[in-house]
Amino acid sequence: MPANKQILLDNRPVGEASTSNFRLTSTETPELRDGQVLVKHHFLSLDPYMRGRMNDSKSYAVPQALGQVMGGGTVGEVVDSKSPKFRAGDMVVGMGGWQQYSVFDAEQLGALRKVDTTKVPLSYYLGAVGMPGVTAWYGLVRIIEPQAGQTVVVSAATGAVGSAFVALAKARGCRVVGVAGGPDKIAYAVDELGFDACMDYKQHRDAASLTAALKEACPQGIDGYFENVGGMVLDAVMPRMNDFGRIALCGMIAGYDGKPLPMTYPALILMSRLKIQGFIVSEHMEVWPEALNELAGHVASGKLKPRETIAQGLEAAPEAFLGLLKGKNVGKQLVKLI
Ligand SMILES: NC(=O)c1ccc[n+]([C@@H]2O[C@H](COP(=O)([O-])OP(=O)(O)OC[C@H]3O[C@@H](n4cnc5c(N)ncnc54)[C@H](OP(=O)(O)O)[C@@H]3O)[C@@H](O)[C@H]2O)c1
Repeated sequence: MPANKQILLDNRPVGEASTSNFRLTSTETPELRDGQVLVKHHFLSLDPYMRGRMNDSKSYAVPQALGQVMGGGTVGEVVDSKSPKFRAGDMVVGMGGWQQYSVFDAEQLGALRKVDTTKVPLSYYLGAVGMPGVTAWYGLVRIIEPQAGQTVVVSAATGAVGSAFVALAKARGCRVVGVAGGPDKIAYAVDELGFDACMDYKQHRDAASLTAALKEACPQGIDGYFENVGGMVLDAVMPRMNDFGRIALCGMIAGYDGKPLPMTYPALILMSRLKIQGFIVSEHMEVWPEALNELAGHVASGKLKPRETIAQGLEAAPEAFLGLLKGKNVGKQLVKLI
């Protein structure tokens, strides 16, 4: 059986995560039992939720066990199968974790899904046509429920979720405004992703200054806000929300290292009669087929042209993950494992 390099969570971070929280190890892949499938991973997905799992505290994801392989989404190829459901050569997506190979129980519902790579590149099943894309879809379609002509705003605009969000919102006839960090990301958002405008939050010393910039970019106010960040950005958006506006609370990455993120203007929820709803995409599996179908269609038609930031080799995963938390990625952060 092939050797399998793995990255384990060695110890929990105190404050910021660091590479010393992880440990590289190697083991042999086990012999397959009946019903099992061996998958060779081509790409590993790195996602912000993994930071929450590194802590042993209440989060939307259960804590990652110490000494165990870091969990994570993977796409790859079936290389051996003792299940009638999968054959060697099938391309699949699953939660294989931070390792080169994984063994799946093919009978476990939803554990492993075959994917069609004729129109959609394999890696996109971890991004635009995968969990981040469905996340954008759920927050936009089910929580913000936009009408054509309305203005919607998304933070972390050029990331995996944000770049799917703009394609989905443009398809519904919205004015779409982003918030992202740095001039390169702003240019990419407007020139390539199709945002009507994008605000560079790093150019604003405080929330009031960003609110003023949003007033110019959103002259009709904001009807829907897709929140990925929290803190200063949320404080800047809230005063520009229209009456009966909707906020899909998807992520609060500015606080993932444990820093408290107070909300400065909660009274605006009442005054503007806002709906604010948090959600976890994995709790809404009923929308995935519809959402994935729409996302794959936008990729095939060229309306959704996601970028990827790809680190090479499993050993590069910890650095790439820490980079994602600091905004070094543009688009979906992946690790190429072959
Ligand atoms: N609720 C769910 O089910 C669910 C599912 C998937 C993802 N999420 C959440 O969705 C958000 C986006 O995820 P993603 O996979 O698309 O990640 P991503 O946007 O590809 O990468 C994270 C981005 O967050 C931004 N960021 C990091 N620290 C920041 C800070 N202090 N202030 C402002 N921005 C900061 C950076 O962009 P800039 O350089 O532009 O700052 C960075 O590139 C995350 O909060 C994630 O936890 C939630």
